[in-house]
Amino acid sequence: MADGQKARIPNVLSIAGIDPSGGAGLLADVKAISACGAYACGVVAALTAQNTCGVDGVMPVPKEFVRAQLDTLWADVEIDAVKIGMLNDAEVISVVAEALRRYRPKFVVLDPVMVAKSGDRLLERSALETLRSELIPLATVMTPNLPEAAVLLDGAAISSREDMRGAAEALRALMAPDAWVYLKGGHLEAEGAPDCLLGPSEAVWLESPRIQTKNTHGTGCTLSSALAAHLPQSESVPAAARAAKNYVLGAIRGSADLQVGQGCGPTDHFWAVRQTCKQM
Ligand SMILES: Nc1ncnc2c1ncn2[C@@H]1O[C@H](COP(=O)(O)OP(=O)(O)OP(=O)(O)O)[C@@H](O)[C@H]1O
Ligand SMILES: [Mg+2]
Repeated sequence: MADGQKARIPNVLSIAGIDPSGGAGLLADVKAISACGAYACGVVAALTAQNTCGVDGVMPVPKEFVRAQLDTLWADVEIDAVKIGMLNDAEVISVVAEALRRYRPKFVVLDPVMVAKSGDRLLERSALETLRSELIPLATVMTPNLPEAAVLLDGAAISSREDMRGAAEALRALMAPDAWVYLKGGHLEAEGAPDCLLGPSEAVWLESPRIQTKNTHGTGCTLSSALAAHLPQSESVPAAARAAKNYVLGAIRGSADLQVGQGCGPTDHFWAVRQTCKQM
């Protein structure tokens, strides 16, 4: 940046599905990216009929129209980081991979979304190989949860910190040499909620207390979006990861003040803004 030039707010693009309840998917991503200090753009990769209790339907977006959204956006807007969420099928995965190869954003956070918190499938089984071969090698950071990591590795369930460390190593082998794995421990049966971040020459455990709540709808979308927002604003991947983890913890804590739906409720993406408002 030239002397005297003001740093602009980073533009962060989420490519994901729509969850009308706003707790997960693109709507949640836009909130998390905005709350973490970046400007949010969104490309819709799939529609769902979904609430806090479950997913009643999935409507894919034709791959030609996903491509049109990506090309039109990139023709106009400089994108600093991309977060990828629900893509639903192999054709859309290929279109997104092609766009990443063409436009080469500096940071790509890949959340390999497969199943919603309610247990409903969000990625066709046949798309797994395309995800592995086309998209995973393009990611800067991949953020699987424990069940997704087990599926990607064709392996057994991951149920301890030792398992997590081993799985993170194996997952990194699927990625580019300088890429990072952020393995989320939300599904671990443990007192805390430890996440394992592994890069080319460093492993970091990100620790937090485990909050006793059923309001964890969209925690994964929220974490990956916060990470995409923080990467262009941080000195290192671990620094961005720490900021994202801290943000998600605040959002889960803040969920106690929300009353949205009867099932697994959303987190409060604007918990920090609300704290500031209360002090005004
Ligand atoms: N009860 C909890 N208390 C504190 N942190 C949690 C809790 N549950 C999840 N987390 C944290 O939230 C983040 C997302 O992890 P999680 O494993 O829930 O993702 P996910 O399964 O992909 O979520 P989603 O169902 O939204 O896709 C991680 O940083 C994890 O440690
Ligand atoms: Mg998830």
